Amino acid sequence: MHSAPGKLILFGEHAVVYGQPAIAMPFNAVHVTAKATHTPPGTGLSVLARDLDLALHVIPGDDTPDNALTYAALLVLRTLHIANPPDLSIEIRSTIPFGSGFGSGAAVSAALMRELSSVLGHPLEGDTLNDLVYEVEKIHHGTPSGIDNTVIVRNTPIYFVREKPIQNIKNAVPLTFVVADTGIPAPTKETVGRVRELVMGDPKIYRPYIDQIGQIVDEARTHMEKGYLLGIGHLMNLNHNVLRSLEVSSPILDKLTNVANEAGALGAKLSGGGRGGNIIALVDAADAKKVRAALNDSGAMRTWIATLERTEA
Ligand code: PMV
Repeated sequence: MHSAPGKLILFGEHAVVYGQPAIAMPFNAVHVTAKATHTPPGTGLSVLARDLDLALHVIPGDDTPDNALTYAALLVLRTLHIANPPDLSIEIRSTIPFGSGFGSGAAVSAALMRELSSVLGHPLEGDTLNDLVYEVEKIHHGTPSGIDNTVIVRNTPIYFVREKPIQNIKNAVPLTFVVADTGIPAPTKETVGRVRELVMGDPKIYRPYIDQIGQIVDEARTHMEKGYLLGIGHLMNLNHNVLRSLEVSSPILDKLTNVANEAGALGAKLSGGGRGGNIIALVDAADAKKVRAALNDSGAMRTWIATLERTEA
């Protein structure tokens, strides 16, 4: 059995699609597992995802499957030069809410590819796996920045700039986040599409927001290196407001970020594609339960407490 975690974007979503930096961390409270079982000779390769109500047969040579699961399996076979699919059934199980900004698509691909390649005797990891998961990400939306697959495959916090070498993050003090899922799925394709409409349609107004997010990310990185919690929280609020200007927030996301701040958070923002999905709030560890309770009482579907440990760059 193999697995892959979810992810949280701490700063920089959407602007990262346009070449600005972003900071993300793995979210290990939720994950996907993939487990292969051998099936009778001649049955071929299938993928079962009960959570998604899917049972799919992988058709060899199908170059343009519109399903991410079969595409992921085919990419592994192609990479390993295997013409005849093995007789296997791979079961996918996920605790990552779908379409909620936790990177469920990339985690499903990563877990499935790890399991299939391992059973075939050539475990795929690192950059090779990352590149393959990225290929599948393109099905979810046409212009993925690559941040989801990168943080999920590496399973470490990252400072990410599209098509640039990945940098590790130095984090001077442990950061405690309360994470709240609205329970409202929102396809990243739509939010990324909306931002594109705005930026391409009226660049004078909207392009500066993209650049402003990039500056916020770099300041946040400096504050993380120094362990300046108040500064990080303040920048989360700023980042959320810029995302509002890019029209990817929503009444429930605004409400939950306000609730978190009123309950004592140091700052809060939507995380991921937005519209629905989740918010993250930075808290003093002692306030985590209080902020979490306030979010639970205010319409959050599920909440978690996540910690980013101290790390050296
Ligand atoms: O998959 P989501 O909803 O977490 O969004 C990923 C972050 C975006 O910046 C919105 C898109 C991307 O490709 O980077």
